[in-house]
Amino acid sequence: MSKAKAVMLDGKSLAEKIKLELKKEIADSGLNLGLAAILVGDNEASRLYVDLKEKACKEVGITFSKYLCNSECYDDIDETELLEMIDFLNRDKQINGVLVQLPLPEGFDADKVIKKIDPAKDVDGFNNGNVTPPTIAAIIELIKSAGENLSDKNAIIIGNSDIFIDNLENHLAKLGIKEIKKEKNIPTNCANYDVIIIVLGQARILKKENIKDGAIIIDVGINKLNGATVGDVDPEVAERAGFLSPVPGGVGPLTVACLLRNVLELTKKS
Ligand code: GUN
Repeated sequence: MSKAKAVMLDGKSLAEKIKLELKKEIADSGLNLGLAAILVGDNEASRLYVDLKEKACKEVGITFSKYLCNSECYDDIDETELLEMIDFLNRDKQINGVLVQLPLPEGFDADKVIKKIDPAKDVDGFNNGNVTPPTIAAIIELIKSAGENLSDKNAIIIGNSDIFIDNLENHLAKLGIKEIKKEKNIPTNCANYDVIIIVLGQARILKKENIKDGAIIIDVGINKLNGATVGDVDPEVAERAGFLSPVPGGVGPLTVACLLRNVLELTKKS
């Protein structure tokens, strides 16, 4: 068996560091911070993500209010009621951040729902540029943690959500990466890229044959394979990559920490 050569980019440790800093800053500031999360429907993965956000809030001293509109807790909710709920939270002075966990069940207009969140409380950064969306912030932190000079590097973002990809491209450009390409599928010339960010939602689709020796690989995929959580990157990629942000333990935990950082940032701005 060949040996893994990639340096693992440790999102979990970076997340712990951010949470410790946040905990101290929140305690020192004397601020009472509140984050409200709304979950509609019975999506198991979404429930898990909301629970992870709740746990992290507890760790840093942010009051977490969970609004579960699922079959267990709530009779039924329609879009009008959901919009009213958001309006109520927008006006609640004890709430500094509001998020609606996505995806929403069929029949809900996610765009309309998200737009209802007061931009001053939009911790996901979906509505304007008040804060960086947590997943994008996590990707940026991981790339920076590799400690490489980026000005002579080209990057490719492989993903199928145009809004996310365009937003990520803008943020990567600010990092000083020389050239950024966007693709909806893994291109045949993928081995030309120094940085690969993949967010396709296809288990272990990026193979070691696809990449350049020494490349920085950021796996943003979350998939279930035989009951295990795996990313879009095949583990054998570690035999050729220079740096790899793995799944689990990479973007995921860091995204939650970046979300909490946004609660404090929005509160300071308001
Ligand atoms: N579902 C998947 N990613 C996200 C995210 O970043 N924010 C919210 N609210 N829901 C999600």
